[in-house]
Amino acid sequence: MQLKIESKSNLTGEVNVPGDKSISHRAVMLGALAQGKTEIEGFLTGEDCLSTVKAFQALGVEVDGVGTEAMTIHGKGLAGLEEADDVLDLGNSGTTMRLMLGILAGQDFYSVVTGDDSLRSRPMARVTEPLAEMNGQFYGRDNANLAPITVLGGQQLKVMQYRSPVASAQVKSSILLAGLYADGVTEVIEPAKSRDHTERMLEYFGANVEVDGLAVKVEGKPELKGQKVIVPGDISSAAFLMVAGLITSGSEILIKNVGLNPTRSGVIDALEQMNANLELLNQREVNGEPIADIIVKSSQLQGIVIDGELIPLLIDEIPILAIAASQAEGKTVIKDAEELRVKETDRIDAMVKELTKLGVEVIEREDGMEIVGKQTIQGGAKCRSYDDHRVAMSLAIAGLIAEEPVIIENAECINISFPNFEELLTEL
Ligand code: S3P
Repeated sequence: MQLKIESKSNLTGEVNVPGDKSISHRAVMLGALAQGKTEIEGFLTGEDCLSTVKAFQALGVEVDGVGTEAMTIHGKGLAGLEEADDVLDLGNSGTTMRLMLGILAGQDFYSVVTGDDSLRSRPMARVTEPLAEMNGQFYGRDNANLAPITVLGGQQLKVMQYRSPVASAQVKSSILLAGLYADGVTEVIEPAKSRDHTERMLEYFGANVEVDGLAVKVEGKPELKGQKVIVPGDISSAAFLMVAGLITSGSEILIKNVGLNPTRSGVIDALEQMNANLELLNQREVNGEPIADIIVKSSQLQGIVIDGELIPLLIDEIPILAIAASQAEGKTVIKDAEELRVKETDRIDAMVKELTKLGVEVIEREDGMEIVGKQTIQGGAKCRSYDDHRVAMSLAIAGLIAEEPVIIENAECINISFPNFEELLTEL
């Protein structure tokens, strides 16, 4: 599918973005491992989260309302999953694969996980290596680094204290979930804080979790109890609409019920530093996660430096921040972001190539990029999505200020995280 975006101004209106992807995945996972029912409201029906649902169905978990935002997971308890009679195909979802590897390591049965071309090329040793130290047994290409990966199961996992070399919530969560199957306390220490939805939700479901700065501990063999989970709107999806409102003239958008967990809201901090006119209203908390409504108005942005500990707090928003930076006064420098090279695609390479195609001056760095501001987006080009949802949506937002329409090829990947993206943009 091709998506054609033409220049627009005066984006106005009130929108709700779809549910948070990270929280949706975790609600299904913990719901499946808990005793009793977990009712989820506001579930993200994007393809990645549906991959998680399908995997748990294949492991014997009953789920009502699949494909809708209101789902019920009939939990089986920590020891209740059953062997799947086929390979678990996790599509494009890195979160599903890395977290599932932690869960599957603790089962007493055999599993094989695989995914699409992108997922089969992404590094999994970052979880299979530490999980192997806990007694997990994995087989796959490149020493169990690349899917398909076989999980032998049937091992009694042992606790560990793991110093992760990367600030990754997927790594942290995988170890903590495996820790549920070990006797005693498992600890993960990160080099910088990554999103903490797993810790928050484990506690909400009744596990014993202790957080001390960059260290998180979980006690094994908890009795998880099914809960009601209301999923906030995804700040990573809201970011596309925020930048749309900021860079188009005469715009004012109200985005309601957005998750504002401080380990996710780096994009707000960065945009505020860039001089964005953003207002947070009705700040409140729902099932252990802070949320708010956000008003965004057209703004003259300033270039900034985005680096260090801020990077993991806005890692998924860097492609759209690059679009904002192209319209800012002065240069924006993004560094310490080498993790972008192992996302759904190499997002540094993809954004540099496509921004250049659109007429923006951008310099590629090994760990980021430098974007010269106040650029005219020429458009009139066919851009590649690299089958990466966030690249596709970032380029679509650039199209809103382009001199000639921008066409994004293979834009169906947007369904991974934001199925009604085009519809919401049209509404605005
Ligand atoms: C996610 C963690 C991040 C993020 C991804 C979702 C999660 O990945 O990029 O979109 O839900 O845990 P890393 O943990 O690899 O940084």
